[in-house]
Amino acid sequence: MHLIHVVGARPNFMKVAPILRRASEMPGWTNRLVHTGQHYDGPMSETFFKELQIPSPEVNLGIGSGPHGQQTGRILEAFEQILFKQRPDLVVVVGDVNSTLACALAACKLHVPVAHVEAGLRSGDRRMPEEINRVLTDQIADLCLTPSRDAHRNLAREGIPPERIHFVGNVMIDTLAWARAQADEMMEHQEPPDGAYLLVTLHRPSNVDQPETLRNIVDALRAVAKEHPVIWPVHPRTRARLSAFAIETGDLDLLPPVSYFQMVKLQQSAALVVTDSGGIQEETSFLGVPCVTLRSSTERPVTIEQGTNTLVPDRNRAAVLTAIRTALKRDRGGPCTIEGWDGRAAERIVDAIETLS
Ligand code: UD1
Repeated sequence: MHLIHVVGARPNFMKVAPILRRASEMPGWTNRLVHTGQHYDGPMSETFFKELQIPSPEVNLGIGSGPHGQQTGRILEAFEQILFKQRPDLVVVVGDVNSTLACALAACKLHVPVAHVEAGLRSGDRRMPEEINRVLTDQIADLCLTPSRDAHRNLAREGIPPERIHFVGNVMIDTLAWARAQADEMMEHQEPPDGAYLLVTLHRPSNVDQPETLRNIVDALRAVAKEHPVIWPVHPRTRARLSAFAIETGDLDLLPPVSYFQMVKLQQSAALVVTDSGGIQEETSFLGVPCVTLRSSTERPVTIEQGTNTLVPDRNRAAVLTAIRTALKRDRGGPCTIEGWDGRAAERIVDAIETLS
């Protein structure tokens, strides 16, 4: 069987790494990796390939940034050419970024079967570009590989036939469990500060694209920084907005985007993580670290049930500050009990794909 695995943006890399590792052990499978180039800066892409030991992509489409329609359209067009040349038996897409939808659509139109890893997650918020990508990718995927049981209810509600849905668990957790065992590589990274500190990541348009919202969040973080160090690896999109809106960040410890190992290290020792990322809600749940998510909904409700994650629907300074102060008083979570978050999701993904051959 000839498979093409697709990656495009930062959160894809930790999902594809264990899948490729497992798939490469399968006799009779050839596995090719295509990078769409949605993310292209070294710290947003290349670093992850090195750390996660992902082989260099056979093809990089070099698409880069742009408005949604343009970015998605360019990937669709370029990936179709790859499909014409390589005629794979299956395309594997992961997550919910524009590359996921574009490549699934190109494959589906050419009648190439598609497996979607991380299928069935729903925030219910159609203003999020990722929600549109999720809904549409699941509709056209031949295999919907789900990370949690709630995803099955969502897919059933949307009329996806049960034979297309396979529960496989969370493949990001495979990578997290693997990374924690790489003690030597982890050692090479800078130690986090002693004492209670906050770790912040923000990049969603709903938080960073409006000056007032971003200013409110920064003001709340600056108030917390009077009591605890606040470490903030800044996404390029957010860095651009902070500068365009001339927002002063005062004592906040702004860093360039950090590597995967560095991020794991920073997360596991943090007193609290403040984020709007999907993956970080999951990673903190697994690590038992309290997490405040600056969003009004989450496509990952298991992180709320696990008890580590709290949503903050209002983005005014007082609401953000109160949520942070309340969460700082919470104890760390116990061992993660979410079904299928056990470091073996890639095995189940490969088993599910085998049912197609
Ligand atoms: C994308 C995903 C989002 C994911 C996030 C992780 C979509 C719709 N969004 O959002 O789901 O959580 O990746 O980072 O697919 N930029 C750079 N260098 C890069 C990449 C981006 O400078 O290597 C800057 C550019 O100014 C670009 C902006 O970041 O315009 C946004 O990049 P884009 O890929 O469009 O979306 P993200 O916000 O990264």
